[in-house]
Amino acid sequence: MDVEFRRFDVGEADELAGFLAGETWPYHGTARVDRDSVRSRAAGGFYDNASTRTFWITAGGSAVGVVRLFDLEDDTAMFDLRVRAADRGKGVGQRAVRWLTAYVFTEFPAAHRIEGTTRQDNHAMRAVFRRCGYAKEAHYRQSWPGDGGARYDAVGYAILRDDWSTATVTVPDFDDEPA
Ligand SMILES: CC(C)(COP(=O)(O)OP(=O)(O)OC[C@H]1O[C@@H](n2cnc3c(N)ncnc32)[C@H](O)[C@@H]1OP(=O)(O)O)[C@@H](O)C(=O)NCCC(=O)NCCS
Repeated sequence: MDVEFRRFDVGEADELAGFLAGETWPYHGTARVDRDSVRSRAAGGFYDNASTRTFWITAGGSAVGVVRLFDLEDDTAMFDLRVRAADRGKGVGQRAVRWLTAYVFTEFPAAHRIEGTTRQDNHAMRAVFRRCGYAKEAHYRQSWPGDGGARYDAVGYAILRDDWSTATVTVPDFDDEPA
């Protein structure tokens, strides 16, 4: 699926609220998003400020996803990616992560790393990280709260600017405890 990326403008808060509230996000802390909270967050700069940029992911002129980039002025930039249910599994997530990786490293020269965390059982997101050159760096046991008091493990992936520019994946040395 061919997709394009267009920067979100705060004047589109109603459209964003409709998009996010119209879907279910099973691997986020809040699976159902409330329209009013999106509107008030937008008004407060949550989606666009000095260190945050949000982009619509569009196909044929329609929104199929949203990616929010944040901590863009830090050494490590972060992102939240959401593709609508009807268009998951069509390669949109991988295109988005490849695009945002190039975008962040090009637009923000101080960014050294880009990092993302997801729930351990979010296999689609984990596949996207791996396909896009991100290495697993962290595993947080029972750190992701779920419905009904459930606790899930969380996993963290990141890509280094050097790895991105040389198309390599440097895997951390996890086996570094003293014998
Ligand atoms: C996670 C998400 C962003 C991925 O985007 P997507 O467009 O569905 O992903 P893609 O189609 O580019 O790739 C998905 C990959 O996961 C794989 N995959 C999907 N379900 C899988 C499963 N249960 N087990 C293993 N692999 C799986 C697919 O095979 C595909 O890999 P491939 O292209 O090598 O075959 C999207 O599904 C989504 O928005 N989900 C809900 C929100 C969310 O979880 N966001 C991430 C929060 S950190």
